[in-house]
Amino acid sequence: MHPGMERVLLSKDEIEDRVKELARAISEDYQGKELLLVGILKGAAVFLADLMRHMSIDVRIDFMAVSSYGASSKSTGVVRILKDLEQSIEGRHVLVVEDIVDTGLTLNYLLEILRARDPASVRICALLDKPSRREIEVPVDYKGFAIPDEFVVGYGLDFNEKYRHLPDIYVLKKEVYQG
Ligand code: PRP
Repeated sequence: MHPGMERVLLSKDEIEDRVKELARAISEDYQGKELLLVGILKGAAVFLADLMRHMSIDVRIDFMAVSSYGASSKSTGVVRILKDLEQSIEGRHVLVVEDIVDTGLTLNYLLEILRARDPASVRICALLDKPSRREIEVPVDYKGFAIPDEFVVGYGLDFNEKYRHLPDIYVLKKEVYQG
């Protein structure tokens, strides 16, 4: 196992099986419609890349990058848009793809922004969900795994920008992130 890791939380095989199930469910639900997958950088990049390859309908992709304004605005959930969509979503079906929902503040704010642009629909697909951390309710329409409140890395998720490339999802050793 990679040094610094406490244990494997989700193996790449478990992740792959679940991603296939999610792709199948999404493909069925959007049959006959045109779907735009919106990946939220950077964590969701790996998940989106795998998800789209298992989908049986035509999808298009775009990305947004957001950053929280910092500790003071964390409670409001206001995020700064670092990179916006390259296309209009008016009248289109949008599925936001996230790696993890924690407090829910980021997604809640993003949903507000996207809904204001008059899409035909907006739904959320998140690989991981930490329900015990939720501060504001957000509708997660497609959920991969509910996980405990532990520091997880790999499969797109980072600690100080490291470990995103690992194929499995790990619980990080406490001494790594507590210094
Ligand atoms: C993570 C994740 C969500 C957000 C969830 O992004 O991808 O966007 O945090 O947290 P919340 O539910 O408490 O708002 P992060 O800021 O770590 O950026 P990254 O995807 O570039 O790693």
